[in-house]
This record gives sequence, structure tokens and C-alpha cells, in this order.
Amino acid sequence: MTGTLLSANSVATEAVASFENCPDPRLRQIMQALVRHLHAFASEVQLSEAEWAGAIQILTQTGHITDERRQEFILWSDVLGLSMLVDALAHRSANGATESTVLGPFWTPNAPRRGYAESIAEDGAGTPALVRGRVLGQDGRPIAGAELDIWQNGENGLYAVQDDEAPEAHLRGRFYSREDGSYAFVGVRPVPYTVPHDGPVGRMLEATRRHPWRPAHIHMIVTAPGYQRLQTHIFDADSAYLDSDAVFAVKPSLIRRFEPRLPDDPETPPGVASPWCVVENDIVLARA
Ligand code: BEZ
Ligand code: FE
Repeated sequence: MTGTLLSANSVATEAVASFENCPDPRLRQIMQALVRHLHAFASEVQLSEAEWAGAIQILTQTGHITDERRQEFILWSDVLGLSMLVDALAHRSANGATESTVLGPFWTPNAPRRGYAESIAEDGAGTPALVRGRVLGQDGRPIAGAELDIWQNGENGLYAVQDDEAPEAHLRGRFYSREDGSYAFVGVRPVPYTVPHDGPVGRMLEATRRHPWRPAHIHMIVTAPGYQRLQTHIFDADSAYLDSDAVFAVKPSLIRRFEPRLPDDPETPPGVASPWCVVENDIVLARA
């Protein structure tokens, strides 16, 4: 036993030392730490040959299912909590700025530019949701001309990129804050949905009795010259799964009430003739 452990330790030591001449100090640090932690992990769980072969098979399947529309490697990072750890490391102190969270796989570039308070819904399904607020600096001053890139799922749980029936622009849009920092758009009330679970990540979730659901949310990326790019969500306070998000992305500061309103309300957005809701959501950007 002692002999086995000694040889396991010496392989780890040799593998770590093999990077000693790496000219890039950061790459050397990362590779050496990776080897140390991988070896410690395999020793801790006493990884068998069959389990190692199984892991290689899973990684191979992950590569095969990944293409420009499906990113299974990021999904692994998401469901293992690594994406949120990297996010936390990148944004250690919010200092009054709006908190960030995962990007997810459903953002696509070139969302249509839309005007103040315009609707992003290309069809009438779902409960209209007017989202409004101001984009501000940490000093409370309004930021004019900030871009808000918005995307969300519809009543059927699908994002436009997943929905062959929906036009490309459905539930997507780019908005710009006005002189006083104000912005507004009309979306629909989002619904909880599952992360893609028909691949290796889904098989792991099932084998470990974890569910694939995410709570209802609207995505946004907010950018303005001189400020840090913000990638965040608005979570619906009434949603299921707020306390068990499959990708650990809920931050309490990002939860908002979707307040119900009736169509005779004077603030009812144009063209809305059914019950709707309003969400107040100021955004605070950190200086670059
Ligand atoms: C999303 O919110 O769109 C998402 C995030 C992580 C994994 C899958 C989906
Ligand atoms: Fe999402």
C-alpha cells in the first residue's frame, strides 16, 4: 500500500516538474496546479480504470454533440458551478453595481435595434411584461446611450434560436438608454425551462437525481463606453426553481416582482388588451 502511494506521489511530482521550463509563468502555474489537483482527485476517489475509461467516453460524446448551436462543454461548466465561480472571481465586489450572472448558450449577435418601450415579441403569445428602469453609474448619475441587449424565452419555454417556428428576431432586441438614463421594453413573462438535457450533461443529471430546470428569467447584456460590460438576468420572484437553479446562477439582488396590471390601467402598453405586468429594474454599471 505504502509502495503504491509512493509511486502515485512520484508520478504527480514528475508530471508537475515536467512544466518547470514553461516560459509563460501563468501557463506554468495553471498546468502545474491542474496536474496536482487532477492527481489528488483521482487518488481521493481511488479512480478505477473502468471509471477513467467512462470519463473519456463522456468527454468524447461532449465533443461530438458540440457545434456552433450547441455548446456542451459550457453546459458542463454551468451545471458543475464552475461558470458561476469564474463569474465570482471576476467580479469580487459589486460596490453598488448590478451583479452579473451566467451568459448561457442562447445569446446570438445582431439582435434588432428597437425603440424606447417597443415590444420584442413577434407574436402575441404569453403575458406582456413591461420592463423599465434607468441605467446609472455607481455615483447615481444617469448613463445615456447605454446599449441593452435583451433575450428571453417565450410561453413555450423556448428561445428564438431553439424555436424553428419563431422568427429570428422573436423575443430579442437591442435598446438604448435615453438622456436621463431611462430605458423600457415590452417582453413577455418568462417561464422556467430546462437546460439542454438530451446529451452527456443530461445523463449525468439523471444518474445523480438532479433536475435540469432553471427559474424564469430575462437575459441582458448592458454596455456603455467607460463602464464594465454587464451580463445579467432579471429573475421572476414568483418563479419555481429560484432555490434550485440547475446552473446556480440566482443572486438575490437580481430577483424582481412582475407586478400584475389590468388592460384598463393608464400605463397599458399600446396594443395590449389582456392582463399584463410591469417590472421596475434599475441597472448600475461599474466604471471600467
Ligand atoms: C440560460 O439561461 O439561457 C442558460 C444558462 C446556462 C445553461 C443553459 C441555459
Ligand atoms: Fe436563459
